[in-house]
Amino acid sequence: MKIISGFEEWARAAEAARKPWQKNHIAMYTSEFDAIVLDPQLWRIPLDDHLVHRGDGVFEMFKCENRAAYNMEAHLARLVHSARSIGLEWKKGGIDDIREKTIAAMKAAGRDRQYVRVMLSRGPGSFAVNPYDCPEPSLYVMVYAWHEPFMTLHPEGAKTCRSDVRVKEPRYATMKSCNYLPNVMMKKEAVERGCDFAVAFDDAGHMAEGATENFGIVSAAGELLFPDLSGILSGTTMLRTMELAEKLVADGTLAAVRHADITEADVEAAREITVVGSTLDVAAGVTWNGRPVGGGKPGPVALALNALLHEDIQSNAALRTAY
Ligand SMILES: Cc1ncc(COP(=O)(O)O)c(C=O)c1O
Repeated sequence: MKIISGFEEWARAAEAARKPWQKNHIAMYTSEFDAIVLDPQLWRIPLDDHLVHRGDGVFEMFKCENRAAYNMEAHLARLVHSARSIGLEWKKGGIDDIREKTIAAMKAAGRDRQYVRVMLSRGPGSFAVNPYDCPEPSLYVMVYAWHEPFMTLHPEGAKTCRSDVRVKEPRYATMKSCNYLPNVMMKKEAVERGCDFAVAFDDAGHMAEGATENFGIVSAAGELLFPDLSGILSGTTMLRTMELAEKLVADGTLAAVRHADITEADVEAAREITVVGSTLDVAAGVTWNGRPVGGGKPGPVALALNALLHEDIQSNAALRTAY
């Protein structure tokens, strides 16, 4: 072990400590220097930022395809909602400034397809829990490598299961805070059970959401149902998918699209399970707790919605922010 007391020694040590996964890290904006930093080994968040030691911050994640961010305004609006929910405000220009810095980072990264993560944190100030120790918030934007959506990587469909992790209380579930330990536990549980996505149920026995995705079903009556928004994150993909699904109602494929209380018995009787989110698009659940759903093959509604969403991402000018 060495003692590092200056930048030059730090730089030598950092150079020697590069990690292979950093090849996926393309560009970062940090308000610490009001700069875009390209070398991933220089991507740093101060340890006394309350984001690090208290999870005191909020975030968004969205994707860019065809050199445009998809549905970015919905994500920024949700960022503002989450920030307000914890009394956090970006005073240096508000959401317009956050948008400008985010687009600058997207441009600097410059890939046709990439992921973007925007984090608004309480900022540095102390190692205590008190948010009033922090004179001003920090903004971090990370742009990193894209990968193919779930159904392209797994055309056979997704294994889904019930999670035993307790849902967050509605106040915290409806904001996208950097406090994701229950979500992490849900993903850990899913991996350990050999399934792709696990979904939690609330105390009333109604379906809530997955670790980083929303769940819905095509009911036995042919309706596309997603949970009520009062106790889950208002997923941008879920809401857009529900709009796109109106086309399937119009052509008679679906009887209706709506929010509903969904019990585990409803899931067991469902024709299809759909799992939706910004990285995965629409995934078709083919098993539930190890038993086949529908015919054990990706269902027609999930596949049709995935195709409609893909087209929307590629070409819906109203939802695309070019860079
Ligand atoms: C808890 C949770 N639910 C749902 C979603 C899906 O939201 P979106 O479709 O906006 O990505 C996410 C996204 O990360 C999430 O973290």
